[in-house]
Amino acid sequence: MPVVELGPERCDALLRFFAALPEGDLTFIKEEVTDPDTVHSWASGPASGGRWVAVDDEGADDGEVTGYVAVRPLPGWSDHVGEVRLVVAPTRRGTGLGRELARRALVEAVGSGLTKLVVEIVAEQGAALALFTDHGFTGEALLTDHIRDRSGRLRDLMVLAHHVQNTWAGMDAVGVADELSAP
Ligand SMILES: CC(C)(COP(=O)(O)OP(=O)(O)OC[C@H]1O[C@@H](n2cnc3c(N)ncnc32)[C@H](O)[C@@H]1OP(=O)(O)O)[C@@H](O)C(=O)NCCC(=O)NCCS
Repeated sequence: MPVVELGPERCDALLRFFAALPEGDLTFIKEEVTDPDTVHSWASGPASGGRWVAVDDEGADDGEVTGYVAVRPLPGWSDHVGEVRLVVAPTRRGTGLGRELARRALVEAVGSGLTKLVVEIVAEQGAALALFTDHGFTGEALLTDHIRDRSGRLRDLMVLAHHVQNTWAGMDAVGVADELSAP
């Protein structure tokens, strides 16, 4: 499944992708993902960059979006830190797409000079935990009873972090270093 940088031609497909997601999944994106102006601003203007989509057909501009990943630099004195936001279409989960998108985000983030990445996941989200820990992320904080699911039940939120220098050896092991040094 091709992963491409978000451009203006993909914004309508991305809006359709977000509109079809369960509400609980949208909370991870933390932006107004159903607002067309917001999503179009991601592809041009000051908020652009740092976003990639998996598409069904790379050649066609109207190919459907099946996954989304963003790395957003934090503001001010934390601008060396990027926050990762990742979501895959429910019908495409378990096929390695989440892993591919996470890897692309990591490669691009390290290449752009960010030295720390963080991601927030619901504590029992086994798939998210597996794919981020395999990419050198480790648990940095556990926020107890921090979010409510759709039934109102309190859930714990985990903050995972990837320290680029410390985990270089780990990235090397998964081949990310090779990808970064490739022409
Ligand atoms: C997390 C998410 C992106 C994973 O996407 P995905 O395409 O299913 O991921 P992959 O297919 O690459 O699977 C990743 C790993 O998780 C494992 N996995 C899948 N479902 C699992 C489950 N229920 N429990 C434990 N492990 C699971 C897979 O086996 C795979 O490991 P492997 O490659 O060693 O076999 C997807 O579930 C999602 O969009 N969740 C909602 C949003 C979210 O939680 N985002 C993360 C925080 S921003």
